[in-house]
Amino acid sequence: DNNTAASTKTQLMAYVVLAVSAFLMTNSLVPHIQQYTLRKGICGKDLGKRGTDRAEIPIPEALGIAPGTVFLVCLILCLVGYATQHPVKMLDVNSALLSICFMLFLGFTDDVLDWPWRYKLVLPTVASLPLLCCYNGSTSIVVPIPLRWMLVQDSQLTILGEIASQVIGIDVATNGTTVDLGILYLVYMGLLAVFCTNAINIYAGINGLEAGQSYVIGCAILVHNLTEIASRSSTQENHLFSSMIVLIFVGATLGLLRHNWYPATVFVGDTYCYFAGMTFAVVGILGHFSKTLLLFFIPQVLNFVWSTPQLFKVVPCPRHRLPAFNPKTTLMEPSTFDCASDQYRWLKRLYRLPSDVTTIPNMTIINLTLYLLGPMSEKTLCVTLLAFQILCCSFGFVMRYYVAQFFF
Ligand code: UD1
Ligand code: MG
Repeated sequence: DNNTAASTKTQLMAYVVLAVSAFLMTNSLVPHIQQYTLRKGICGKDLGKRGTDRAEIPIPEALGIAPGTVFLVCLILCLVGYATQHPVKMLDVNSALLSICFMLFLGFTDDVLDWPWRYKLVLPTVASLPLLCCYNGSTSIVVPIPLRWMLVQDSQLTILGEIASQVIGIDVATNGTTVDLGILYLVYMGLLAVFCTNAINIYAGINGLEAGQSYVIGCAILVHNLTEIASRSSTQENHLFSSMIVLIFVGATLGLLRHNWYPATVFVGDTYCYFAGMTFAVVGILGHFSKTLLLFFIPQVLNFVWSTPQLFKVVPCPRHRLPAFNPKTTLMEPSTFDCASDQYRWLKRLYRLPSDVTTIPNMTIINLTLYLLGPMSEKTLCVTLLAFQILCCSFGFVMRYYVAQFFF
């Protein structure tokens, strides 16, 4: 047992070395690669600097390609290591590589070609298939104690339990503690991949936010993995595997964040958002902690839920919803969409706006923060949102390690 502990330590140290190299490589690659994307016209205007000199400078876009490539190179090096040490894990590394590589490809082509929405929903699902096919974990979930009576009473299935097992095809354990979702669990994980990739992409638009939120979530996952490894839980092997991926990811991300931080010299592009989202989905699925992962995604979940009226076109959705820069105050304010004075009364009531106004703030958490806390600079806004991310991840830990024990 001491041997395993020592080998775990050695492996972790090797991954830390890789992560530091990933940081150094990305950090030095970005200024180099940005000349290539700029030359091919893959660039964008910094919409958060409108009315200033900076607004006219084209900013190189799609720089997620740098951490993405560095990440793939490092992971392939790990694959070579695994081939000699644990051949069984090869399947996991290979499918992780395939899924992430596919999303990197999809993201980069999206930056160049601007895919329509339907592609962005279908292709991540397909990209998650290699992972789901080699998923050999359990497809059962533990039923929270306060809900068990609904499925089983006196060792007999209740009507609801019967419906679940006969109609939906869910296998309910006779003591009511677990239900085996079977294929539905795989569907859920496929949806998780679509959610993670798009949720990061729509919680974006100010300097440093895409890479910043991914950095915080990455660190939270890492802490979770290390906690599980230290407690020598039975799933140690999975968590070691997931820390390998996350450590390299965090290193590469930090290298990019340095250049994307306010005032950004490069944009990360959809390339980075999809790459980051898929990496999280991969570690959540292969590490068997997809529900804990969702706890770290609370700001993204809130942003998605608050965005749904615009995403599903119940309310108009402009091409860009990022906050508006006011050159007079040099502060950011909520951006808005136009409507008729008698439209969307329910939304105006929610915002406590007079019912006859003709502009309504765009429905993102970013704009909502500005609406609630008042105008602030782009940098302060980014720091505030990242602080909220850290707060939510901490809340996730409390739920996972403290509150969960009362329910499971
Ligand atoms: C998503 C959002 C959109 C938001 C955009 C910005 C939805 C449905 N879509 O669209 O509302 O405006 O991301 O990321 O919510 N940019 C900046 N500063 C930054 C980052 C980006 O000005 O810090 C601008 C640049 O002009 C850049 C462009 O946003 O070229 C990138 O937008 P893109 O990633 O193509 O937008 P979407 O992902 O389609
Ligand atoms: Mg984007």
